[in-house]
Amino acid sequence: MSFELKNNKPIEIFCGTGGVGKTTLATSRALFLASIGKKVLLITIDPARRLKQILHLEESSAGETATVPLSIFGEGYGEKTLDALLMNPAKTLKRLGEQSKTEKEFENRIIKILSRPHGGMNEILATVEVQYQLNQKIYDTIILDTPPGKHFLDFLDASHKIKQFFDSSFVDIFKFLGKNFENKPSKAKKIMGLIVSSGIKKLLSYLEKVTGPDFVNTFVDAIVALYKNKDQFLYALDFQEGLTKKSTSNWYLVTSAEQNKINEAKDLQHHAKIFLHEDSYLAINKCLSPYLNQWKTDNSRTLTHVKKTMLERENRLKQMAHQSFAKTLDFPEVLGPTPEEHVQELSKAWSQWESPQ
Ligand SMILES: Nc1ncnc2c1ncn2[C@@H]1O[C@H](COP(=O)(O)OP(=O)(O)OP(=O)(O)O)[C@@H](O)[C@H]1O
Ligand SMILES: [Mg+2]
Repeated sequence: MSFELKNNKPIEIFCGTGGVGKTTLATSRALFLASIGKKVLLITIDPARRLKQILHLEESSAGETATVPLSIFGEGYGEKTLDALLMNPAKTLKRLGEQSKTEKEFENRIIKILSRPHGGMNEILATVEVQYQLNQKIYDTIILDTPPGKHFLDFLDASHKIKQFFDSSFVDIFKFLGKNFENKPSKAKKIMGLIVSSGIKKLLSYLEKVTGPDFVNTFVDAIVALYKNKDQFLYALDFQEGLTKKSTSNWYLVTSAEQNKINEAKDLQHHAKIFLHEDSYLAINKCLSPYLNQWKTDNSRTLTHVKKTMLERENRLKQMAHQSFAKTLDFPEVLGPTPEEHVQELSKAWSQWESPQ
């Protein structure tokens, strides 16, 4: 093996396009690290929630860490456990509100809509959540299972969005209002109402007609509440910094040995290039070569031809992947039918890259 995988990073992140096995491999990595005694938190920021099924979690536990015994994956794990968290944007926001005593203000209609699972603040709040978990310093490793492709890029972009939101010109208005508004929010709201630009006013008055007379107030309330939590949002920017550092993170771009999937992975690699440092790995999932190599074709010319062609194709695809990704990890197609079997079988594969620490 030409490289070793460091298992002492605070963050490990799994990304890739749809259905390639991100959730399964992230879970197998969590199982592997937990089985060698690491304290692991597995977070899914994917609203699709497949992790819930694999780990037998209740939807009602969303937003809170749940402790999962490794024994659900089979025997031999003793009493060991791992922690898992189904990201719930509304719960993260609630905690932010409690910390900054703005709970009441977060009861706002617009904020509620924004913090639904597909409401637009999912990625930003996921960033806030991961940063919060890192600060708790409870875990050796936090493993992130991300939503497919584009949504994952939104997640990466979240910090940028946070910065933009608080840097944009109408935040200057808040700065102008300064302390005044912290003591007298109702006064700030009035001034805010007066000084929003005429363009925004026009838009608001139009929306007011559509959504009801109290829309402008609700909108301004939402902005004020978010602004009061500005520091916590900006703090989450540290997390994005961490992702770009080799000392803080391992990146796994998941793909399978198929031409179009490898091309999609290259595309993602391109979009995520500012993050992908030296410890970034292409995980080629569902490889058939371990089986093909063992396949005895009993001198049948047809079967020998099938075997040879399939092996050649897989090797060609792996070489193609190698040209774009210096470090690749192969994972076999697991033959058993259940997701638990997939996770358990794949977790064994990780030990081959284990480095003596
Ligand atoms: N190596 C493997 N061998 C066999 N089946 C696998 C393997 N890896 C994943 N699977 C199966 O493939 C399916 C898709 O996997 P998974 O849900 O992990 O993909 P995903 O990339 O997270 O999907 P999504 O983009 O929808 O989040 C699941 O049924 C899973 O059990
Ligand atoms: Mg998934």
